[in-house]
Amino acid sequence: MYSTTISSDVGKAALFLESGELVAIPTETVYGLAANACDAAAVAKVFTAKKRPSANPLIVHVDCIEKIALYAAGIPPAAERLLHAFSPGPLTVLLPGNGTLPSIINNGQPLVAFRIPAHPVTLQLLRQLPFPVVAPSANLFTSISPTTTSHVMKYFRGQIPFILEGGACSIGVESTVVGFDEDGNPVVYRTGAITAAEIAAVTGREVIVNQGPSGSSPGTTPHHYSPVTPFYLVSSVHQLPAEVDVLKTGLLCFREKNSRFPANHQFVLSVEGNLHEAAKNLYKGLHYLDEKHLSFLVAEKLPNIGLGITVNDRLQRATHSYRYRFEKPFSLI
Ligand code: TXA
Ligand code: MG
Repeated sequence: MYSTTISSDVGKAALFLESGELVAIPTETVYGLAANACDAAAVAKVFTAKKRPSANPLIVHVDCIEKIALYAAGIPPAAERLLHAFSPGPLTVLLPGNGTLPSIINNGQPLVAFRIPAHPVTLQLLRQLPFPVVAPSANLFTSISPTTTSHVMKYFRGQIPFILEGGACSIGVESTVVGFDEDGNPVVYRTGAITAAEIAAVTGREVIVNQGPSGSSPGTTPHHYSPVTPFYLVSSVHQLPAEVDVLKTGLLCFREKNSRFPANHQFVLSVEGNLHEAAKNLYKGLHYLDEKHLSFLVAEKLPNIGLGITVNDRLQRATHSYRYRFEKPFSLI
């Protein structure tokens, strides 16, 4: 057991990482659970702490493109263009590794995921470290991702020595994971803040979206990002049937609350209907509602455009276990 410290002291975070310990770090997307990527024993601690299957590969985080080149066997032109356009930022690229990093990172597959996060505190940390860090989201496997240090505390209090304070994450949903097919065309394995349309515009190439579990990104499971409370997805929180028990149900609303339900059982993602704000608030809202210990949670889909596509993807995965259940709480869902 550790006594977990939350602090913005980058030097202390570096010391813990150098001695093989885990440190939660802020990024612009979500908080990550970092370990020295060159230290297989430290990386193993990440899988254990998260209860994550070893076949789910981790993203290697660095502060500049030159450092990616130290660990990749090559950077295809489309990847180079994307890195220049979107890094530091919410982009992860899958590149062939050059064998320098320990195979535990990616379960010995040929591809390694790289990302340059845009958070100033973490960039400062990465600049001063003599090694890259792996950093999966700092949550337990399949649970709601963390966008504040208190979310990280919920999962890892006493399990890790240090959480680097960086405030609330500004984007709030994970990076877009992009690989490249044999023709060098980008393939999106996980939607994120950067849309397929933006990737097409920057690379001038056709973009394939392959987010299924059969794709070559083993971590993109259909069940993910889930609250403990049974969770359902609907088109609108204004069309819930009369038999819904309003006192036992929490609502994740897009723009406005449903007046039939207690106000404190509801969380509005963006009063303005702004998709960036909605993405930023998604995990905050899910943590808030899950902590109410209600019987059911219901979210409404966002318009399926821009970042709404990414939020809908997360909501679909978060509600996946309940979609095919026989005992549904109310008839329309
Ligand atoms: O925004 C983010 O990417 C955050 C922050 C902390 O940087 N990190 C994150 O890591 O979301 P994680 O481990 O929760 O998700 C990593 C994703 C998974 O979908 C995984 O399958 C994919 O990246 N991935 C990582 N390495 C891969 C590889 N070698 N081949 C295919 N997919 C890979
Ligand atoms: Mg994750």
